[in-house]
Amino acid sequence: MAGRIPRSFIDDLLNRVDIVEVIDARVPLKKKGKEYWACCPFHNEKTSSFSVSQNKQFYHCFGCQQHGNAISFLMDYDHMEFVESIESLAQMIGVEVPYEKGQAPRQSHKDSESIFTTLQQCTDFYLAQLKLHPEAVDYLKLRGISGEIARDFAIGYAPPGWNNLSGEPKSLTDAGMLIEKDNGRHYDRFRHRLMFPIRDRRGRTIAFGGRVIDAEDQPKYLNSPESPVFHKGEEIYGLYELKKAVQVIEQIFITEGYMDVIALAEHGIKTAVATLGTAVNNAQIEKLFRSCKNLVFCFDADAAGKKAAWRSLEQCLVSLKEGRLARFLFLPDGQDPDSYIREHGEQGFQNQLDNAETLTEFLFGTLLSQCNIKTLEGKSQFLDRLRPYFIQIPLQSLRDQILGEVEHQLSVKLDNRLLKILGHERSAPGNKLKLPEQHWTPTRLAINLLLQKPSLADSTGAHHELAETNIPGVGLLLQLLDKIHEEPGISTQNLLDRFKGNEHEPHLYKLAATQPAMENEESIDLMFENCLEQLQKKYIHHRRELLIDKLQSGETLSDSEKQEHRQLFTKA
Ligand code: UTP
Ligand code: MN
Repeated sequence: MAGRIPRSFIDDLLNRVDIVEVIDARVPLKKKGKEYWACCPFHNEKTSSFSVSQNKQFYHCFGCQQHGNAISFLMDYDHMEFVESIESLAQMIGVEVPYEKGQAPRQSHKDSESIFTTLQQCTDFYLAQLKLHPEAVDYLKLRGISGEIARDFAIGYAPPGWNNLSGEPKSLTDAGMLIEKDNGRHYDRFRHRLMFPIRDRRGRTIAFGGRVIDAEDQPKYLNSPESPVFHKGEEIYGLYELKKAVQVIEQIFITEGYMDVIALAEHGIKTAVATLGTAVNNAQIEKLFRSCKNLVFCFDADAAGKKAAWRSLEQCLVSLKEGRLARFLFLPDGQDPDSYIREHGEQGFQNQLDNAETLTEFLFGTLLSQCNIKTLEGKSQFLDRLRPYFIQIPLQSLRDQILGEVEHQLSVKLDNRLLKILGHERSAPGNKLKLPEQHWTPTRLAINLLLQKPSLADSTGAHHELAETNIPGVGLLLQLLDKIHEEPGISTQNLLDRFKGNEHEPHLYKLAATQPAMENEESIDLMFENCLEQLQKKYIHHRRELLIDKLQSGETLSDSEKQEHRQLFTKA
């Protein structure tokens, strides 16, 4: 939940921190002209298309369109929560975040804090219990796990019995560690299980996975439920441990299970992670790609493994930006990474890696096996099937490589007609970044100028009549004017922040980030007036047409329309 931090405090904070300072501390910026520039931290690129404006206190990437203010930068770059990033900015300028009274976030923030504390206490408890229970230690030995690796992953043991956890019942229940019965009593969720803490990027335990020790117990793995601090679809098991163990990450192995991560680490491969019993999603893939450009998805070679691999491929496509590489490793004979590395050792596993399929190979291999490309029908069926995958790929060089492969595999020359089937339009050669050429219509220019200097709105009315004209972008312009009139004196960054989540947000940032040619600072008022005049002219034109239409279709005009008609046609 966003927070009961007063709006006015957030506004004030955004006005007081300097976004250039915030970003420069993380991504070194270079000043060019009025703006600061860097290679975008949110996608891979060689030329700088990430711009930071000190005047307007926001950033915008011309490559990937990511944009926002100091708060959103910390959220995206440092993976902070909303409240967390506000706390962090407040700390920077040495002020205390005020939380409004009431039942909202101060409470929930506090709740999270106490859940974290509770989960840490559980982690410590399970670690201590492991030492006291030889049957648990024996199981670890049976699975070939050393004390050192058990310690790195903080593996513990939940003893048998229903009431071993001590602590505040509410917190334990909120954390998912206790289950509440109908009669209001509680019992421990995890009993007689090996416990794997799932940790966030700061190393705090946010959930557990528990594995049975006795083969007859069910289910084999039990995971913590969703909680205020645990959102299954966003987490990746082993990422914290990986970052702690490895400085330069060459490649990340994405496996399916806790034991795969741990067994690989045991054999010296410390760069494995796992999703938590769910198919990997794009948010997780993005997170991983930001840590390392080289991902290897590991699966069993059977039908279920192929299916899971295909789902991962689908989730990868939109993230395949410059330099990023995804490969698919299919282990033979129903083996998972754990069983394979234990049987064949690190070298054996590394040898398997040579057989890993690139994403293109896997994509073609799968689709080719579905179509008989010896026939013409098969060829067009192949193109039809390739299309939905192909169009998701953002990287031109990868697209070109795939097109080349299509020509090779299908023995066809891709002419414009076939390219159309693929949803591909040939683009100009060279992938040098060109800043978008902005065509400055009066509407766009007026929006841009208002963002540079919101006080321009002071000397003009609401202009709601313009809404009738359907001039593109005029709706946004009117919303901007309204917002500034509602809060006279509002700063650019606060104004932009008012459009958070608004359908126009991306358009707004794009317009704010491009700079129209301007003779000097003073000319801004004149330019704005000029824009409004031009829009007014368009409006008059629109009204005239409307009245003429009415007259021509034989409708009678109302008195006010007659008067308007006279005015409009005498003015010209
Ligand atoms: P697997 O069944 O492939 O187990 O489940 P595994 O990782 O090979 O485990 P071992 O080697 O038998 O110990 C893969 C992952 O699916 C989730 C867990 O996250 C597990 O690591 N899972 C599996 C569950 O959540 N519940 C289950 O009952 C089984
Ligand atoms: Mn296994």
